[in-house]
Amino acid sequence: MKLDSYVDFFRQTSPYIHKHRGKTFVIALDGDTVTHANFHRTIHDIALLQSLGIRIVLVHGGRLQIDQRIAQSGEQSQFHNKLRVTNTTAMQSVKEALGSTRWQIEAELSTGLPNSPMHGAKIKAIGGNFITAKPIGILNGVDYQHTGEVRGIDDESIQQQLQLGGLVLISPIGFSPTGEAFNLSYQELAAKTAIAINAEKLILVTEMAGILEDKNLIRSLSMPEAKSLLKKSNNSAQNKLLDTACSACSEGVKRVHLVSCAEDGALLTELFTRNGSGTLVMQDHSDVIRAAGIDDVGGILDLIAPLEEQQILVKRSRELLETEISQFTLVVHPEGNLLGCAALYPIADSNDGEIACMATDPEFLGQGIASRLLERLEADAVKMGIKKLFVLTTQAAHWFLEKGFVETELKDLPQQKQSLYNYQRNSRIFSKIL
Ligand SMILES: CC(C)(COP(=O)(O)OP(=O)(O)OC[C@H]1O[C@@H](n2cnc3c(N)ncnc32)[C@H](O)[C@@H]1OP(=O)(O)O)[C@@H](O)C(=O)NCCC(=O)NCCS
Repeated sequence: MKLDSYVDFFRQTSPYIHKHRGKTFVIALDGDTVTHANFHRTIHDIALLQSLGIRIVLVHGGRLQIDQRIAQSGEQSQFHNKLRVTNTTAMQSVKEALGSTRWQIEAELSTGLPNSPMHGAKIKAIGGNFITAKPIGILNGVDYQHTGEVRGIDDESIQQQLQLGGLVLISPIGFSPTGEAFNLSYQELAAKTAIAINAEKLILVTEMAGILEDKNLIRSLSMPEAKSLLKKSNNSAQNKLLDTACSACSEGVKRVHLVSCAEDGALLTELFTRNGSGTLVMQDHSDVIRAAGIDDVGGILDLIAPLEEQQILVKRSRELLETEISQFTLVVHPEGNLLGCAALYPIADSNDGEIACMATDPEFLGQGIASRLLERLEADAVKMGIKKLFVLTTQAAHWFLEKGFVETELKDLPQQKQSLYNYQRNSRIFSKIL
């Protein structure tokens, strides 16, 4: 990387560094992540997060390792309704597999050779009996034996260790007051830990890039959107992630990130760049983003009329809106009132598109409504094969600059748009490569 692009890049990350410092993240690594060729890089990136002042709880899984260990012991893994039945011999394999996976993580966290990114990191990995568990018991006649569920989390002790600067490493085994050990789902454990310690974020790292719909990566989902995708999709691995994300969000975790271990640096990209790398599931916004329909024309007119009068937006007649309604996307309150709108127009015979008529109800400004609309329009544009977005604005130049748009000149607009340029409005022109 050239020196100036390195300096630029470093400066661009600073708002994120400020934002994340002092916050608590629960990071869940599945067993496949630990065996992946990128594993040591993933751990180095986690160490870097800690050096930047983020308080980290790491929860690991080990399904793959458990399967291998059970096979080595000459037994067969038993599942019922996709849930492991852990008998006494299987439980021995679970302990061995999770113990060995844990040592592997601790070893990686302890490296510090002078020529490695871990040099000087001095991570203190802390463990303990933070988790109490209870048996799942007998479901539909099947006794799950040592397969358990979380009963309690000693959040105070975890917080104390974080306060002392430790990285808390939790394995998916919990103990009952009777002294028995239970095999837990690491995803459930990570979500419950994030809820118990009031974490800012839960980050699920797996081999999956995030949530895909029609092979396209979805960058962000509100909880209602995640729930409706859960109902539609029959991809069980994806659904498990969505389910975990929804349960964490519904109990107070504001943001759940689904990040890939297979893509080098995906964790850092997700946390320190505007566009991220995986899928972000956000707590219920109590409003919904959806495509506009003909019944929305009246609401859009009401929303944009004052802005048209102030000449902030170009005047649109009811007839024009009716014709172009399918280009509009809306943010709507559950009770039906319109909170924001924006339109996306593909520009014919090009790979370009234009964003227009972006407006937020003045009573709801500053709540991220326009940001979410823009995110959605950008995702829609990518799906439509649009490579570059333009926007013309008189009042919101800085808003678009902060969203990664750069100012451009009239001659850079597609020809047909140039001929329609209104010199009297004298709008500034911005573009963004998608
Ligand atoms: C621009 C607009 C859509 C932003 O709506 P919003 O829902 O409040 O936006 P968000 O909540 O996602 O972003 C809020 C942030 O952007 C900033 N912001 C809002 N309008 C801005 C503007 N015109 N210029 C610069 N920054 C702006 C806010 O100060 C806030 O920043 P902060 O969190 O650091 O305080 C809204 O101000 C609006 O309706 N403007 C009039 C219409 C317009 O100019 N549309 C653009 C032409 S298509």
